Amino acid sequence: MPSSVRLAAGLIAAALFTAPVALPALAHGDVTPQPVNIEGLEKLGPDWRASNPYRGNKRAIEIGSSAYNQNCARCHGLGAISGGIAPDLRFLEEGDPGDEWFSERFRKGAARDGKVYMPAFGEVLGQEAGWAIRAWLETVPQ
Ligand code: HEC
Repeated sequence: MPSSVRLAAGLIAAALFTAPVALPALAHGDVTPQPVNIEGLEKLGPDWRASNPYRGNKRAIEIGSSAYNQNCARCHGLGAISGGIAPDLRFLEEGDPGDEWFSERFRKGAARDGKVYMPAFGEVLGQEAGWAIRAWLETVPQ
């Protein structure tokens, strides 16, 4: 084998060796939760509320709109209009009765048979962001 070929083979081997370190970061890049700036919202503490304390809150709706587009739209659709890969969140039950199911999914995500359908957001984004998203969702016409 000419030495230039051996050198090339060596470089490829080196690239393959380092690739697995970089790849997971790339592959998961688009599912990294985007931090939500909750400035201007009343802090809610660690215990999750049973119903949305921000319903109708103008600042929460603003924050929720952007938090949704950064964290949820890639699956649930831009503007909450689902393209079909995940449920259309405009049709969640409204008001207090729908809050429980919303927060359950937001906090824990959804998994079946070891497959993650939706990642859990509760720990990473916090309940302020969760309820802000819910407040915005309820302003989107069906
Ligand atoms: C990786 C894709 C993905 C992302 C990102 C995602 N979801 Fe989901 N979500 C799903 C899927 C898929 C389901 C249906 C799960 C099932 O069938 O068990 C779902 C279900 C839900 C449900 C229950 C809907 C119903 O009709 O029962 C809610 C509420 C929800 N998601 C809210 C959110 C919010 C809020 C965000 C952003 C913070 C979000 N999701 C981000 C994929 C996603």
